[in-house]
Amino acid sequence: RPRTFSGIQPTADSFHLGNYLGAVRHWVALQETHDAFYCVVDQHAITAGHDAASLRQRSRTAAAQLLAVGLDPERCTLFVQSQVPEHAQLAWILSCITGFGEAGRMVQFKDKSQKHGNERSSVGLFTYPILQAADILLYQANAVPVGEDQRQHLELSRDLAQRFNTMFGATFTVPAPHIVKDTAKITDLQDPTAKMSKSSSSPAGIVNLLEDPARSAKKIRSAVTDTGREIVFDTETKPGVSNLLTIYSALAERSIDDLVNAYAGKGYGDLKKDLGEVVREFVTPVQERTRAYLDDPAQLDKLLAAGAEKARAVAGPTLRTAYERVGFFLPV
Ligand code: TYM
Repeated sequence: RPRTFSGIQPTADSFHLGNYLGAVRHWVALQETHDAFYCVVDQHAITAGHDAASLRQRSRTAAAQLLAVGLDPERCTLFVQSQVPEHAQLAWILSCITGFGEAGRMVQFKDKSQKHGNERSSVGLFTYPILQAADILLYQANAVPVGEDQRQHLELSRDLAQRFNTMFGATFTVPAPHIVKDTAKITDLQDPTAKMSKSSSSPAGIVNLLEDPARSAKKIRSAVTDTGREIVFDTETKPGVSNLLTIYSALAERSIDDLVNAYAGKGYGDLKKDLGEVVREFVTPVQERTRAYLDDPAQLDKLLAAGAEKARAVAGPTLRTAYERVGFFLPV
């Protein structure tokens, strides 16, 4: 079976619909066809300032949500990054074959460092994509399910795999991004040309999986829509309505064409009201299952520790090979 790997940051109290539709939904699907490794990347979550008191619980909540939307510990390996030290160890090696300028060209770094102020941005924020490459390469992943915003980071992972292989001998599988176009960029309800984002959207622009669905419905009702009245799909001229149709289509598993036909002659208000209902139907059981996992933290922690052990069984040998190839002095 081919391998898949992906990760998600526990930076907020809830995932949002962009995370789910752009990435996590595909994680669930790929469990069936791939040898799957999925990771709550808590080490990535400390690169831009964080609250130490809530990080551990956010990692639990992240894992609980992943299980609630359908990751099955029988069919995938789910773990927390900091429990597998090989990630940071391989990241060091990869950082030594990454160019300073190359890392500086990462747009996510440029955006975020600009926001925090260049002087105050951490070196960890700068090397963030190198740790991400280590995550992926340790598992020899073939496919990496992510949203569009991760494309450039995936390109770096590929470059680093190829470079290491050329310099030190074939060691890493060169990973391919698995980006499903339809939902690769869910946009902000208040700013439908920008992506829905944990760090940069306003609360009104984000639909969180764990928020009160009445609140979500209200946000959807207030979503910025476009001039005109017709419900048509056109991301250029109608980015707001198109975003709502994209979300609706993915959650209700109905094609965009089908929805456009069904809403012919109806108004934006009807679409928004019904989408609020679709969201409620989707999140209600997800919230119940998430709560059930969080109600038994000892069981959840055990499940994650078992995941980390399974992950180390793969990451350990890969790291050992990399250590040998670069000439490290392994203990006898
Ligand atoms: P993160 O935690 O920001 O987001 C998790 C996943 O959600 C996707 N995503 C979106 N997809 C569509 N529309 C949106 N508005 C939207 N917002 C977020 C992201 O593309 C991502 O797939 N660097 C990664 C975490 C990471 C990782 C890895 C991913 C660390 N190591 C190794 C893959 C492989 C990140 O910050 O994701």
